[in-house]
Amino acid sequence: MKFRLILFFFLLYSSAAFALDGQALYFEYGCDGCHGDEGQAKERVSLAGRPASELVEKTMLIQHDQNPKGAELIMKENPDLNRLEEAQAQAIALWLSQLPTSKTATKGATR
Ligand code: HEC
Repeated sequence: MKFRLILFFFLLYSSAAFALDGQALYFEYGCDGCHGDEGQAKERVSLAGRPASELVEKTMLIQHDQNPKGAELIMKENPDLNRLEEAQAQAIALWLSQLPTSKTATKGATR
C-alpha cells in the first residue's frame, strides 16, 4: 500500500512537465505578442521548430538576467516572464519545437 502511494506521487511528479499545455501557456504568458501565434515571427525571434533544450535554456537565461544583451532586454519588459517556472518553460519549448519552422511554414508571421 505504501509502495503504491510512493509510486503514485512519483508518477505525478515525473509527468508534471508533460501534463502542462505548452500552447496554452505560450498565450497565457504573452509570448505570442512578440514571437507570433506559432513562434514564427521573423528572423531572430523565430522560435518554431528549434530544439526544446535550447529554447528552455535561452528562456531561463533571459529570465535570470544572466545574458541580457540588446534585443533580449525587450523580452524582459514583459512582467509575466518573471513568474514563468522552468517546468512551464519546458512545456512551451516542447510545443514550439514540434511546430514547423518559419521557413517551412505555409503561413508567414504576421507580426
Ligand atoms: C516584449 C516582447 C517579448 C515577449 C513578450 C517575449 N519575448 Fe522572447 N524574445 C524577445 C526578443 C526581442 C528576443 C531577442 C531576439 C534577439 O536576440 O535578437 C527574444 C528572445 C527569446 C528567446 C531566445 C531566442 C534566441 O534565438 O536566442 C527565446 C527562447 C524566447 N525569447 C522565448 C520566449 C518565451 C517562451 C516567451 C513567453 C514566456 C517570450 N519569449 C516572450 C521578445 C519577447
